[in-house]
Amino acid sequence: MNTGIIELLAFGLVAIIAGFFLLISMVRELAPKQRRKWLLGIGLGTGIIAFSLKIGLIVLFSLYPGPMLSLFPERQYEYAPRSLPDGRRYDSSMVKTPYTWQALPSSAPSPGDNPLTAEKTRLGKMLFFDTRLSADGTLSCASCHEISNDKGGGDGLRASIGINGQQGTRNAPTVLNAAFQKVLFWDGRAASLEDQAKGPLINPIEMGMPSLDQVVETVSGIPAYIEAFAAAFPGQPSITIDNIAKAIAAYERTLITPDSPYDRFVRGDRSALTAQQIRGMALFESTGCVLCHSGPNFSAASIFVDDIPFRLFPSVPDTEYDRQYGFTDDRGAAPDKSGSKSGIWRIPSLRNVNRTGPYFHNGSVASLEEAVRIMARVQLNKSLSNSALDDRSIQWLSGDQRLAVATHQALSDSEVDEIVAFLKALDGELPPLH
Ligand code: HEC
Ligand code: HEC
Repeated sequence: MNTGIIELLAFGLVAIIAGFFLLISMVRELAPKQRRKWLLGIGLGTGIIAFSLKIGLIVLFSLYPGPMLSLFPERQYEYAPRSLPDGRRYDSSMVKTPYTWQALPSSAPSPGDNPLTAEKTRLGKMLFFDTRLSADGTLSCASCHEISNDKGGGDGLRASIGINGQQGTRNAPTVLNAAFQKVLFWDGRAASLEDQAKGPLINPIEMGMPSLDQVVETVSGIPAYIEAFAAAFPGQPSITIDNIAKAIAAYERTLITPDSPYDRFVRGDRSALTAQQIRGMALFESTGCVLCHSGPNFSAASIFVDDIPFRLFPSVPDTEYDRQYGFTDDRGAAPDKSGSKSGIWRIPSLRNVNRTGPYFHNGSVASLEEAVRIMARVQLNKSLSNSALDDRSIQWLSGDQRLAVATHQALSDSEVDEIVAFLKALDGELPPLH
């Protein structure tokens, strides 16, 4: 039983007891005569019984999953449907205009139980770079998430290589600015950096440690850590797996890039973007990329945007791209309790995307130009053509005796280049000391 229901039952019980005492005192006060006392008693008593029945029904309803009534909903995301309820797909006509552009804040928020301190981030950095945390001593977090301005927090490989040369099936996403995402991993299965950090340590095809206890034991055996943990977590039995995860997460919260040319432009430096980049920025909005890659972290899965963090990908099924790059071989997140997967993915941030190729969850696409063409085609149903004829679609609505004209239905090569130029303006620099 979840705590919400226990609280509710306790509340109901207290309410009934209080009501009962109230009833007795009212009956004593108001009804000196024997007969009226009973009448009042029956009247008020029925009220109390009805009240407790209501509480009972509320508890019963909230026990049922689904849309009936949920009093204490867990944080649960509704997944984006295959198409929108009225049958349309995401398209540029849905962009709320004017779209507001925002710069990234200069620091990332920390959860209440893991405040950022210099000692903790220093410890987190030691752990992040320590190969002794892998089963054969060859890999650290930084092996697959290179903390440098060129590699941009990824490894540049199609899919990452874990201990003993084993290759996984997914590309390593950047850890830079991950602190701003509300769910992590390509399929969004981790809810916080703390949650995420324990995964790779014991993933057999990543760092491959036999157990989290073994990780704690290894760390406890290294003298430098004993001191560093005592400084980072004063007054606690400090080397625990939770504290290891907290320190790594604290370090990751410093890995942010809030000073890209885009940010400088939005903060007021008009010379920070070239004319081509500004045209690309306008296209990024008008083509509809902002329907998913929205807010200062260019992701609706970020803490800045109150939206579902997931989308179907590819949302237009059976395109030539899908066949060429095998996007549907991996089916992403499990959207319902049945566990069946249906191609739903978390919307990634596009910050530093120019440095984090190859692209997509399977790392199948090498160039950013191609990634942009794919997005336009499979997420927004645009065609890719240099002919002005393809840019407008005209449909005759015979019932209404009207022409439905939609403009900007195709992206030309130069428009793709403009969007790519704009995406390059999202490259930022890590703060010093990394
Ligand atoms: C062998 C390579 C490898 C190692 C080692 C590794 N990772 Fe990763 N990391 C990945 C891959 C691949 C993914 C994506 C997996 C997925 O989405 O299913 C990932 C995902 C992540 C993410 C999610 C980023 C996002 O935007 O969703 C974070 C954060 C992260 N790793 C941090 C770490 C930390 C911390 C460590 C060390 C404890 C670590 N990684 C070790 C390959 C690696
Ligand atoms: C309907 C939502 C949606 C729209 C619209 C959309 N994207 Fe995406 N985008 C996604 C999702 C989801 C992914 C992750 C796909 C995956 O799992 O591989 C993604 C991935 C990407 C990537 C690869 C990121 C990486 O790190 O590999 C790029 C680049 C990108 N989008 C750019 C764009 C551009 C440019 C536009 C506009 C032309 C656009 N997107 C429109 C949802 C969307």
